Amino acid sequence: TIMRRSKLHNNEALSEDMLKKMISEADKVKTHAYCPYSQFRVGAALLTTDHHIYTGCNVENACNNLGVCAERNAMAKAVSEGCRSFRAIVISSDLCEQFISPCGGCRQFMREFGANWDVYLTKPDSSYLKMTVDELLPISFGPEDLSMKKLQIQNGH
Ligand code: THU
Repeated sequence: TIMRRSKLHNNEALSEDMLKKMISEADKVKTHAYCPYSQFRVGAALLTTDHHIYTGCNVENACNNLGVCAERNAMAKAVSEGCRSFRAIVISSDLCEQFISPCGGCRQFMREFGANWDVYLTKPDSSYLKMTVDELLPISFGPEDLSMKKLQIQNGH
């Protein structure tokens, strides 16, 4: 059922200092964005539950569908270093009048590592909108769903 997951969000708020640092890290890594095709720079700073910060920028490609988003880049870096427990991610772009909104693929990629952690959508003036992964991707499909009760099949039929 769709009520299978608690909507309770018991994360403690990030301290003002930590949030400031995260926003500054996301802004800094944004300057490394490789975006010759879109000219759309994005930076992400990911905080793990053991207080490490992994950053990522978007990296585009001449074969355009191979480009990778900043958020996924940061998450892949963390996982590659052995960390899969995420506390929050801050996303930074150059959009002045709206909060940068993560693409659907990145929302699903975030959800792989839990639905109840925080996503900060920012503007260049450091204002932000705080959401959870679950709010960005409601009624989501995740790793737990693969082991739920299902019909028995044989040879894929
Ligand atoms: N992009 C990100 O890296 N993250 C987002 O949240 C939105 C979009 C990138 C993908 C592509 O390199 C460029 O921004 C334009 O879509």
